[in-house]
This record gives sequence, structure tokens and C-alpha cells, in this order.
Amino acid sequence: MAERVPLRFALLLSPLLFGGCSRDASAGSEATPAQSSAAASAEVSCGTGKAECPTQRWMKANLQAHMRSKDYTRLEAALKQLAEVEPKGFDGWAESARAGAEAASRADESGVSKSCEGCHKQHRDTFRRTLRSQPLL
Ligand code: HEC
Repeated sequence: MAERVPLRFALLLSPLLFGGCSRDASAGSEATPAQSSAAASAEVSCGTGKAECPTQRWMKANLQAHMRSKDYTRLEAALKQLAEVEPKGFDGWAESARAGAEAASRADESGVSKSCEGCHKQHRDTFRRTLRSQPLL
């Protein structure tokens, strides 16, 4: 009995270990070197002249891109997504993003711009100083 327990344990464990290893290996191959180094030293290594910060990158790829192409459907969806991730202490963030989504649903370009500007004025500097390296989306 005393011998069978560790053996069974080892047999049970080996596929788990193997599975764990192969998962790690595939996850590793998905991350580009740039991403992993950005994540490793994100505190200081993203931003001007360096790798883009996560929220900065998301803003450009989504809000800025959809604004330029006047894709209000995607803009509305992206702004709704942004409203869901209000960081702690950033009061008015969700409200501002929702107002933008609402304007996007009416294809109201200047209404959307007001939401962009409002949130940037109110939150962008603080965000950059305190949460910049943290991915929200
Ligand atoms: C609820 C808040 C919020 C709203 C609404 C918002 N943004 Fe942003 N945006 C931010 C924050 C915070 C940053 C700073 C991210 C960073 O620099 O890491 C930012 C940064 C950006 C950047 C990057 C600028 C740079 O210097 O690289 C662009 C472009 C941008 N936003 C476009 C938009 C557009 C276009 C809209 C409206 C359709 C919009 N944003 C609406 C919060 C918001």
C-alpha cells in the first residue's frame, strides 16, 4: 500500500506535467520578444521613443482607426468596451466613454470627439503617471 500510493501519484502526475509543459511552450512561442520585454519592464520601458503602452496602442488601433474610417459601429462597440474597464479612482471614465458610444450610435462625429477630448483632459495625464504600463483591454 505504502508503495502503490507514490507510484499512482507519479503516473497521475506525469501527463499533467507534460500537458503543463507543452502549454507553456506554445504560450511562449506566441509572445513576441518585444511583448515580453515590454511586459517585463513595463514600468519605465513603454511610451515616447519606446514600445507603445497597452492603452495607447489600443486607442490607436481602435478609437483612432475607427474615427478616421468613420466606422461608427466599431467605434460604438470599442467605446462601450472602454466604459467597462474604468480604473479605480478614475471617476467619470465610464460615463465619458458611454457618452462617446451613444454619440457613435448616432454617427455624431463631434459628439464622439467631445468624449475623446473630455476623457483625455480629465484622465490622460494621471493615467500616464500611474497606470500606463497596466493593460486594460
Ligand atoms: C474614458 C477615457 C478615454 C476616452 C473616452 C478616450 N480615450 Fe484616448 N486615451 C485615454 C487614455 C487614458 C490615454 C493614455 C494612454 C497612454 O498613453 O498610455 C489615451 C490615449 C489615446 C491615444 C494615444 C495618444 C498618444 O500620445 O499616443 C489616442 C490616439 C487616443 N487616445 C484616441 C482616442 C480617440 C480617437 C477617442 C474617441 C473616439 C478616445 N481616445 C477616447 C483615455 C480615453
